[in-house]
Amino acid sequence: MTKYLVNLQPIGRRVEIEAGTDLLTAAQRAGVEIVASCGGLGICATCKVRILQGRVTPPTLTEEEELGQEAMAEGYRLACQTIPLEDVRIDIPRESLVAGQRVQVDGREGEFALDPAVRAIDLELTPPALDDLRADLTRVSETLALHGLPALSGGPKLLSRLALFLRANDWQARIAVRPGADGSALVSVLPKGARIAGLAMDIGSTKLAMFLVDLESGAILAQAGVMNPQISFGEDVVSRIAYANKGDAERIQLQTRLVETINQTLGEFCQQENICRDQIVDIVAVGNTAIHHLFTGLPVTPLGTAPYTPVQAGAMYFQAAEIGLEAAAGAWVYLPPNIAGYVGADHVSALVASRSYINTEHTSLLIDIGTNTEISLIYAGRVLSCSCASGPAFEGAHIRDGMRAAPGAIERVHLDGGRVRPLTIASQPPVGICGSGILNAVAEMLDATVINDRGVLNQKNERVRMANGKSEFLLVPADDTGHGRDIVVTRKDINEIQLAKGAIRTGLEILLKEAGIPADQIDDFIIAGAFGTHLDLKSALRVGLFPCQPLERFHQVGNAAGVGARQMLLSRAVRAEAERIVSGVEYVELTTYPRFYDVYVECMYFEPC
Ligand code: FES
Repeated sequence: MTKYLVNLQPIGRRVEIEAGTDLLTAAQRAGVEIVASCGGLGICATCKVRILQGRVTPPTLTEEEELGQEAMAEGYRLACQTIPLEDVRIDIPRESLVAGQRVQVDGREGEFALDPAVRAIDLELTPPALDDLRADLTRVSETLALHGLPALSGGPKLLSRLALFLRANDWQARIAVRPGADGSALVSVLPKGARIAGLAMDIGSTKLAMFLVDLESGAILAQAGVMNPQISFGEDVVSRIAYANKGDAERIQLQTRLVETINQTLGEFCQQENICRDQIVDIVAVGNTAIHHLFTGLPVTPLGTAPYTPVQAGAMYFQAAEIGLEAAAGAWVYLPPNIAGYVGADHVSALVASRSYINTEHTSLLIDIGTNTEISLIYAGRVLSCSCASGPAFEGAHIRDGMRAAPGAIERVHLDGGRVRPLTIASQPPVGICGSGILNAVAEMLDATVINDRGVLNQKNERVRMANGKSEFLLVPADDTGHGRDIVVTRKDINEIQLAKGAIRTGLEILLKEAGIPADQIDDFIIAGAFGTHLDLKSALRVGLFPCQPLERFHQVGNAAGVGARQMLLSRAVRAEAERIVSGVEYVELTTYPRFYDVYVECMYFEPC
C-alpha cells in the first residue's frame, strides 16, 4: 500500500500514513492532540491546520462553508476533511492544539473532618522466636487492633511483599490499610514513616483537574490541569460515544488514552514531590456519566440510545490496577454515584462541595456550565436536578474565530463608540476569541445597539459588513491580529450564543416552574466550572444567561467538582453524604417537559437587565 509522510509543524513530529488517511487521524497517530470538537464530522472548524507543502484533496463544501475563501486562500484546511496525496508538511496553529490551554483546577474549600478510607500504621514488631511462633499476619493484626482496626487481609502478592519487607527491615514498616467489613485490606508496604497520598480527579469532557493530596494532613501536594486527550476523538460526549460504539478497539482506545494521560501526570507529581507510586494509596474520580463509563471501560451504547440509561448509576469501587492506573498495588478507585444519564458524579461532587449552601434555609441554584450544563435547585430540603445540552459555544467551538482559553484568546472586549478594545489572555496579539470573550462581546454589542434583542446585526453600524452573503461585525482588523487575518463576530456566532444561553436558561426556568419558586426568591446562585469562573457576570446577566438579580447573590466558586473529589478522598463521611444527596435528588427530564419548546424559544431572546 502507498504510504505518505506527514510532517507536523511547529511540533516537529513526523508520521507515516497509508494513502487515504486524513490529517486528523495522522496527527492522532503521531500523538499530537488536535482539538476535534465534532469528532471529525467536519462541522466544528476546531481542527484547522495550514498546508505548507504537498498536494492534498480539494476542499469539501463543508470546509468552504466553515473556513471561508480568505482562510482557504492562505492554505487553511480542516484536518479531518483533508487527505494527503503525497508527502506533506503542515502547520498546526496554537488555537487548534489541545495542549497549552487554560484549565481550572482550584475551587472553594469547605470544612470537614479528616477520615480517609485508607490509613497508614507504623509497625515495630518483635521477630519470631522459638517461644513466639505467631504468623506474620497475626503479628501485624495485633498491632492493628491497638489502633482499633480489624485484622489484616490481603492477596498473596502483597502479603509476600510484606513478609520479605519486614525481614529485610528489622521488622519495621509502614503499611497502608483500608479498613472494611472483611478486615483491614493491605494496600501498600512502605518504609516506616513514609508519607501516604491519594489522587483526586475531576475528569471533565474537555479538561482534567488532578490533585495529589497528603492523606494524613489533607494538604494538596501537587495539582495540574491537563486537557482530556479524548478531545481529539470528539469534543462533546455524543461524538465520543459514537466513536466508542464503532467497536471494542475504539472504546478501549478512548480509555487507554485517558489512563495514559493520568499516569503521565501522576509520574510528574511523584517526581516533583519525591514520592513513589506505592505511596499513592487511594483514588477518587468524578466525571459526567459518559466520561465515567469511558474511564471505567463500561459500554456506552445504552447512553447513546434512547432512553439514555447508564450501565451503572450507584457508587463504584474497583482496583486501580484493573484499568492500568499506576498506583500502589492494593489501591482502589472510588467513583461516587451518578444521578441520571446526563447528570453525573461530577455534579454530585459539586453538590457535595456546595453543601454549606445546601444545608441551610437558603434557596440555592447550583449551575455547572460546560458542554453539558447541570443545574440543581436546592430548597426546603429538596434537590431538583436537570441537564441542558448547552453545547461547546462557551468553550469557543462553533464560533467562526472561536478558540479555547489559550494565550492570544480575546477574553474581554470594550466597545467604545466606533472603537473596539480587545483584552487577550497573556496579553498576546489576538488570534481568536474564547467563550467568556464572545459572551462579553455580545453583551457589549447589545449595549452599543450593534445587535437587537433578537441578535440581528445593525447594518448601519460602520463595522458591520457583508461577507459571502452573510453579515458580520469586524472585531479586530487583520493588521492588529497575531495571524494577520480579521477576527469577526458573525450572525451565526451570535445565534450559537443564543442557543447555548437559551438551553441553560430554559433548564433554570423549568426547575423554578417545577418548584413554583420565582427567581427573586433564590438567595444564592452558585456558578461552578471553568467557564463559570472566568465569565463576566454583568455580561452573563446582560445576555440573559441568568435571571436579572442583584450581583451579590452570585458566587463563582471555581472547580466545585474538584473540591468535592478532594473532600471525598479525605473523608468517608463526605462519601456517605454524596450517596445520601443522590438518593434524594429528583431528576427533571427537560425534553419531556410539556412547554419545553415554548420556554426554549422565549429564552433565546436577549432581555435587558
Ligand atoms: S471540523 Fe474537523 S473535527 Fe470538527
